Amino acid sequence: MEKTSSLQQKMISAFLLIVYLILVTSPFNAGECSICDYYVLVGEPTAISCPIITFPVLHSDYNLTWYKNGSVTPVTTEKHARIHQRDGLLWFIPATLEDSGLYECDVRRLNHSNKKPINLTVFKNDNGLCFNGQMKFEQKVMSTNTGKIICPDLEYFRDEDNNEPEVRWYKECKPGFLEDKRLLLAEGENAILIRNVTVQDKGNYTCRIVYTYMGKQYNVSRTVSLEVKESPLQTRPEFIYPQNNTIEVDLGSPVVMECNISSGIPGLIPFWKVNDEDVDSFDSTYKEQFYEEGMPHGLAVSGTKFNISEVKVKDYAHKFFCHVVYDYQQITAYIKLERPAPNIQGYLIGGGVSLVFLVFFILFVYNIFKIDIVLWYRNSCHPFLGKKVSDGKIYDAYVLYPKNRVSCLYSSDIFAMKILPEVLERQCGYNLFIFGRDDLPGEAVISTADEKIRQSRRVIIVLVPEPSCYSILEDVSEKQLAMYNALIREGIKVILIELEKIQDYANMPESIKYIKQKHGAIRWKGDFSEKSYSASSRFWKKVRYHMPSRKNRSSSGLHLLPKDFNSPQITSEK
Ligand SMILES: *[C@@H]1O[C@H](CO)[C@@H](O)[C@H](O)[C@H]1NC(C)=O
Ligand SMILES: *[C@@H]1O[C@H](CO)[C@@H](O)[C@H](O)[C@H]1NC(C)=O
Ligand SMILES: *[C@@H]1O[C@H](CO)[C@@H](O)[C@H](O)[C@H]1NC(C)=O
Ligand SMILES: *[C@@H]1O[C@H](CO)[C@@H](O)[C@H](O)[C@H]1NC(C)=O
Ligand SMILES: *[C@@H]1O[C@H](CO)[C@@H](O)[C@H](O)[C@H]1NC(C)=O
Ligand SMILES: *[C@@H]1O[C@H](CO)[C@@H](O)[C@H](O)[C@H]1NC(C)=O
Ligand SMILES: *[C@@H]1O[C@H](CO)[C@@H](O)[C@H](O)[C@H]1NC(C)=O
Ligand SMILES: *[C@@H]1O[C@H](CO)[C@@H](O)[C@H](O)[C@H]1NC(C)=O
Ligand SMILES: *[C@@H]1O[C@H](CO)[C@@H](O)[C@H](O)[C@H]1NC(C)=O
Ligand SMILES: *[C@@H]1O[C@H](CO)[C@@H](O)[C@H](O)[C@H]1NC(C)=O
Repeated sequence: MEKTSSLQQKMISAFLLIVYLILVTSPFNAGECSICDYYVLVGEPTAISCPIITFPVLHSDYNLTWYKNGSVTPVTTEKHARIHQRDGLLWFIPATLEDSGLYECDVRRLNHSNKKPINLTVFKNDNGLCFNGQMKFEQKVMSTNTGKIICPDLEYFRDEDNNEPEVRWYKECKPGFLEDKRLLLAEGENAILIRNVTVQDKGNYTCRIVYTYMGKQYNVSRTVSLEVKESPLQTRPEFIYPQNNTIEVDLGSPVVMECNISSGIPGLIPFWKVNDEDVDSFDSTYKEQFYEEGMPHGLAVSGTKFNISEVKVKDYAHKFFCHVVYDYQQITAYIKLERPAPNIQGYLIGGGVSLVFLVFFILFVYNIFKIDIVLWYRNSCHPFLGKKVSDGKIYDAYVLYPKNRVSCLYSSDIFAMKILPEVLERQCGYNLFIFGRDDLPGEAVISTADEKIRQSRRVIIVLVPEPSCYSILEDVSEKQLAMYNALIREGIKVILIELEKIQDYANMPESIKYIKQKHGAIRWKGDFSEKSYSASSRFWKKVRYHMPSRKNRSSSGLHLLPKDFNSPQITSEK
């Protein structure tokens, strides 16, 4: 007894399981259509499934029977018949125009029965086309994306070996469009992939396979009307501005910090951060303004901006990052503020020009103050330069001057015998040999001159304009000229002093002309007043400039003071 009860229990639980499975995975489907429509092209085979059965059939605990409308005799199950039922499907191999009409499937389970009519319409191709416009499948793809066109409803048309059928494709009933490199045959899927879809890809795509049944071949075709939907050009946000760039801005000047993005996503708005904090915590005067504008093609531009009224030093220290969160990640771009670089080229040009000006200025100043500078240098520096090697000469200058004749105005005697020694000897400490003062009476003039010149570092020649008034050195002769030659040969520097402006050197000896031309002459502009005795007058400075620097003597400024003249204002010239 126990055994039978356990067997009963098992049977009950098995039955309950079956009921449960039937309820959960119900093959009974009322369907959305009260009378479902089916289409087929004339001459092509078709297989019709009962709309209240969903395939694959898990449970065959029912009997499905097809009836022609109104008929009590079921459609034959004879496989060779043009219309027959097999495996729950109603087959037309092939369909003819007369097959259009209502059919009924009857599903029986135990004592439960369910009937469902269907309406089959057999179409002819439209004129000149390989399809009928009323029986097209609609498919949609998005532009710029990769789209897929599927050849639908082929699941019952495997050949006897259950191979995937070979699908041929036509666009507007013409083959060959697959040569476009964007198009790919998706083998095994009865589909075409279209990469970078464009609007031109829309149209009528017909696919056709050959179905072999009972040794006969039939065409099975489907036509897909492809629609191309414009998709937003991009959905991922992209920065319009900034592009990780720098802005040159002066300290203290204002700048508007703007960041904007374009995206296909409304409400996606960027925000600023600096130094890992919000800009308003970085500086409380930085107040962000957010905005969003719709754009055609579904693209939106949104942005944020804030004003820096005065750029501060800290603003140069950090990058300002603009963030936008997309797909759970942050996309960033930044602006860096920088101080404007100094205009190096300008500085270089300016510097070069000022350098040239400076050089010219220095040369100019040197030319003007050359004499003063040299004299100052001799005065201030000479004592520190140490002693020079003696050149073996006794006199600093040999003075040559024309002796006055009674009738003449020019006082070359006074100049040479009085003023010259006063200034150069007494004030400046030079040692002069003045012909007519230092020569011993009775000495042979020429030999004395020759010897004394050799012992002198300079030769000072005092000139007067009127040769008729003076014979320039009455003792002159060819020997005198020879002396000139000698001094030129020996390289002794000659200082010409004109007591008056000499217009014409024509009457002068050649050697004088030569010296005048080469070194010029110093003109005496003074009278014989006290002023003329000042060693710091322009004239005497020039003379001193041409004189050698003094040796072994104290260069005290006191030397510059006239000793014989007590008026202090004399010294203060210049
Ligand atoms: C289906 O039909 C067969 C024979 O016509 C019958 O034996 C069987 O019980 C039926 N099954 C159902 C579930 O009605
Ligand atoms: C289907 O059958 C009903 C009655 O059974 C009939 O009135 C109707 O005309 C039939 N329709 C077709 C298309 O055969
Ligand atoms: C069959 O139908 C009868 C009456 O319609 C019902 O009483 C009975 O329970 C049904 N049996 C099954 C197994 O559904
Ligand atoms: C069946 O379909 C055809 C074409 O679509 C239509 O003209 C006809 O009225 C339909 N018949 C029924 C009963 O719905
Ligand atoms: C699709 O477009 C992208 C970007 O415009 C391009 O790089 C790619 O080569 C295109 N692919 C084909 C198959 O044309
Ligand atoms: C698709 O076919 C229809 C006729 O069914 C025709 O009117 C239409 O122009 C075709 N589409 C294209 C893109 O050629
Ligand atoms: C299939 O269709 C093509 C093109 O219309 C035709 O050439 C061919 O003969 C057809 N094949 C059959 C078996 O009807
Ligand atoms: C984006 O920001 C930049 C920089 O401020 C601005 O020049 C540009 O006009 C903005 N673009 C749009 C579409 O608002
Ligand atoms: C920023 O400055 C501009 C003028 O430069 C002004 O029009 C704008 O309102 C200011 N924005 C803010 C947020 O202060
Ligand atoms: C800008 O910089 C950010 C972060 O430094 C980086 O992720 C982004 O790719 C850069 N963008 C460009 C256009 O270089």
